[in-house]
Amino acid sequence: MVVSRRSRTLLALTILLLLSLGLTQPVAAGKRKAKQRRETHEEQHPEPTLWTYSVVAEYPHDHKAFTQGLQFDRTCDNSSKVCYDIFWESTGLNGQSSIRQVDVNTGEVRLRNDLPSNHFGEGVTRLGDDLYMITWRTGAGFKFSADKLQLTEEIDTGLGDGWGLTTDGVHLIVSESSQHIHFLDPKTLREVRTITVKDRGKEIPWINEMEVINGELWGNVWQTECIARVNMTTGRVIGWIHMHGLREGLIKRGLVGSTKMDVLNGIAYDATSKRIFVTGKLWPRVFEVVPKPFESGAAPDWAAVARLCHPRVFGLG
Ligand SMILES: *[C@@H]1O[C@H](CO)[C@@H](O)[C@H](O)[C@H]1NC(C)=O
Ligand SMILES: *[C@@H]1O[C@H](CO)[C@@H](O)[C@H](O)[C@H]1NC(C)=O
Repeated sequence: MVVSRRSRTLLALTILLLLSLGLTQPVAAGKRKAKQRRETHEEQHPEPTLWTYSVVAEYPHDHKAFTQGLQFDRTCDNSSKVCYDIFWESTGLNGQSSIRQVDVNTGEVRLRNDLPSNHFGEGVTRLGDDLYMITWRTGAGFKFSADKLQLTEEIDTGLGDGWGLTTDGVHLIVSESSQHIHFLDPKTLREVRTITVKDRGKEIPWINEMEVINGELWGNVWQTECIARVNMTTGRVIGWIHMHGLREGLIKRGLVGSTKMDVLNGIAYDATSKRIFVTGKLWPRVFEVVPKPFESGAAPDWAAVARLCHPRVFGLG
């Protein structure tokens, strides 16, 4: 058989076409499947929004206070009728643990009650006329009267490792060293429900000091400068606020105590004036901050978010 040059070329082209169809179709189908998988994953695990912050005010803070709990409140003197913005603040470390009522504007400690040195203080929160405070690792908890800061009851919380404490107005909300947040009935201290904190499907441990802000649970992640905005129903991280630069700024300014500062820990919210406060352990300042979206192009990429905000990336926890 004589095959002309022309038909040889045609044959070659046909073979090439068949080959390419055979090869590319599975590739295209594979790509489509991967895209579908990615889209389903994103539907199930939507990306959190990323925020930075502006400082709008700063207030003096006892640089010897190893802050473990912070909550905004307002108190009025019954005789003079003068009212004060205050923080309920708890401090940790054995021998230095206390519960305090602090004047927001001056940093002055107005009331204080020290814990025996066998206790390492953790979070504090006010619910009704009671202040609840938990401790680290011993399961000991305390109730104080909100007016005089007097100890009214010692309670066994049953917590193996209490860290942060806040309230949604109904429950005591407790964090510990794990990825779980527990909602407790304040009367019985029984667990009502638990959420698992997750960012795009990855479990996030080490939420420490917390605050409920506009129906979200905000918590700073221990050993990071990130605040997680957590959906209280699902546990999903819906936003990350990058608080980077606050601590470094204090060090740069050389404020008294700034060389001994520990990590960011402490979020408080003034619901009336919509003010958000943050501080840290042994920080000489409390900052009033306004979260804001990153300017376009300035937001960290997801690898950076994981590096900065997910403790497990460091092999910790
Ligand atoms: C002010 O008076 C009210 C009513 O008598 C009382 O319940 C409250 O504890 C008092 N507040 C302080 C700070 O003493
Ligand atoms: C939390 O998630 C639930 C379920 O997806 C949703 O209905 C609710 O609006 C979310 N809450 C907040 C504060 O985002």
